[in-house]
Amino acid sequence: MKNKVLVIGSGGREHALAWRLSLSSTVEKVFVAPGNPGTASEENVENVAVAANDYPALTRFCQEAGIDLVVVGPEQPLCDGLVDLMKQARINCFGPSAKAAKLEASKVYSKMFLEKYAIPTAAYANFTEIEPALIYLSKQKYPLVIKADGLAAGKGVVIAANEELAISTVNDMLAGNAFGEAGHRIVIEEFLEGEEASFIVIADGENFVPMATSQDHKARDNGDKGPNTGGMGAYTPAPCVTKEIYEKIIELIIKPTLKGMRAESCPFVGFLYAGIMIDKFGNPKVLEFNVRFGDPETQPIMMRLQSNLDELCLAAIRGQLNGQKISWDTRTALGVVLVESGYPNAYKTGNKITGLDVPSVFTNTKIFHAGTAMKDNKIVTNGGRVLCVCAMSNSLKKAQNLAYKRVEEVSWESQYYRTDIGFKGLI
Ligand code: AMP
Ligand code: GLY
Repeated sequence: MKNKVLVIGSGGREHALAWRLSLSSTVEKVFVAPGNPGTASEENVENVAVAANDYPALTRFCQEAGIDLVVVGPEQPLCDGLVDLMKQARINCFGPSAKAAKLEASKVYSKMFLEKYAIPTAAYANFTEIEPALIYLSKQKYPLVIKADGLAAGKGVVIAANEELAISTVNDMLAGNAFGEAGHRIVIEEFLEGEEASFIVIADGENFVPMATSQDHKARDNGDKGPNTGGMGAYTPAPCVTKEIYEKIIELIIKPTLKGMRAESCPFVGFLYAGIMIDKFGNPKVLEFNVRFGDPETQPIMMRLQSNLDELCLAAIRGQLNGQKISWDTRTALGVVLVESGYPNAYKTGNKITGLDVPSVFTNTKIFHAGTAMKDNKIVTNGGRVLCVCAMSNSLKKAQNLAYKRVEEVSWESQYYRTDIGFKGLI
């Protein structure tokens, strides 16, 4: 019997997951709640009009539709305990429990965890009150990194170039209400230099299967300049993760993290995403943990995945990942995120997108939707990150060229994108 799968979320990551799952030989049908016009356009994929945070309605849908597997895209439902809720209803929901999701939900928790299990990360201190934080700041070297404790949709991290900026950030986070609830506790940590990579595994609490390595471009503008965003483009594999560094990440970070979570009585089941900084000596340190797949890393990674993702997720839920294999297309995949200009600050929506309804002349390319909507039968922009244009080819340079050719086929007023995605892997 084939699997009926529900993907939860509505972004580019969820479009890529739903698309890849729909191609699995063991999948009967994929539902996406709530999905987007991109998921609606895929064969064998159907959008369900249930919000990603309406947990009782999601549970009811799974029971009524006989869903065999739920894959949760974003972090919020995981941190809210959706996996725990679905488990009680005997639904196979792939992801960490709320307790395990604290690795992402609380920066203070994750730093204490890393310290306790001697997993390499930046030196840090945490504070709830302004005075001791200011005394600490006066004794530090700059730049310095200041992080709000809770989920802050990528906006809770400030890299302070000098003490003046650090003081105002600490004041904003602890006294003002700039970051809401997330700002009541902060982590102040050492600034790490090096190259950043994303290392994602599927874990069953004990065993794990690594995803292909990837790199994301978080800054908005070319040359990694401008404000931090959710991600402006990504590619896989990451050339900076050499075989030696790969082994170090597995031995020094992934294995001790899974072992530590077991020791904390909250074994980690789900996609574990370690944001890694690799220093000039090739030593990896954890920048952050996410408890879900990356966006936009998912989009190019799903282009390359050849195994049945549903089977891997179900094996993980059953604690049977040991010995499972995963196979990848050996080519490089790269995705360019097209955004509304202004993002990550204020931007317009409702702009008509042209070029999506005609078949592309380029094979081995794929466009994933994120912030799009249907209006009067036309696809319009409906968010900051709008589309992720992906291409796969024999080298990073060729994948980059192909992706940018495909980018030229779609446009709208006030479209913006970086023209150098992948450059870090080419120098
Ligand atoms: P986080 O949400 O903790 O990953 O932080 C967002 C981004 O801020 C990361 O992807 C890095 O680019 C940067 N960042 C975070 N922590 C540090 C650090 N200790 N040193 C340098 N850059 C950092
Ligand atoms: N691409 C970074 C993230 O998903 O958090």
